[in-house]
Amino acid sequence: MGMGKVVVMDHPLIKHKITILRKKETSCKDFREIIGEVASLMCYEATRDLELEPIDIETPICECTGYQLSGKKLAVVPILRAGLGMVEGILAMIPAARVGHIGLYRDEKTFEPVEYFCKLPKDVSVRQVFVVDPMLATGGSAVAAIDKLKEHGCKNVRFLCTIAAPEGIEVLQKAHPDVDIYVGVIDEKLNENAYIVPGLGDAGDRIFGTK
Ligand code: PRP
Ligand code: URA
Repeated sequence: MGMGKVVVMDHPLIKHKITILRKKETSCKDFREIIGEVASLMCYEATRDLELEPIDIETPICECTGYQLSGKKLAVVPILRAGLGMVEGILAMIPAARVGHIGLYRDEKTFEPVEYFCKLPKDVSVRQVFVVDPMLATGGSAVAAIDKLKEHGCKNVRFLCTIAAPEGIEVLQKAHPDVDIYVGVIDEKLNENAYIVPGLGDAGDRIFGTK
């Protein structure tokens, strides 16, 4: 099987906003707002090829044929906690989407993801699923979340993240070659604590003001 696509965002608004996210002096309030804006813009790019079906409608002037998204409503699945910061921004673009939640934290010593919560929308297996998390570092969390979705029968999964390390992309592509990855920017590397360099620090802490 071929590898999934890796689509790196080239939109100037996204680059501008990610730079604000990186700055250490950006406040919790601004960080939260801007991570949502980036999610909206990324969602726009990641939905370019969604399937449409024709629909006959009437305007105040006459009958005509328009288009609507085909199939079941899309599902957005944030990886808790930091993925929550992207949900509103995605729903601003796709207000009828369903939302599932997968709770994972990285063990501080092993960096391995530990699952603590999973609640998915009805019929998730037949929906287009967007898994969202601001950070793809070792790739452990993304792989575990998508493993879980596949256990539930999901076949149509995309992964959206704001900043990725090359290591994480490689790990995710190997584990889930069918999953397309939409990434704001690919950074240089991971440091000894498995943080992305230059990155933006701990996304969950910056969104929620913990630590
Ligand atoms: C962060 C981030 C990802 C994960 C990425 O979450 O939001 O989920 O780390 O790292 P990985 O690619 O090496 O798995 P964290 O575990 O810090 O939990 P939090 O979102 O609750 O803060
Ligand atoms: N999780 C984060 O929030 N930031 C990183 O740099 C790596 C993992």
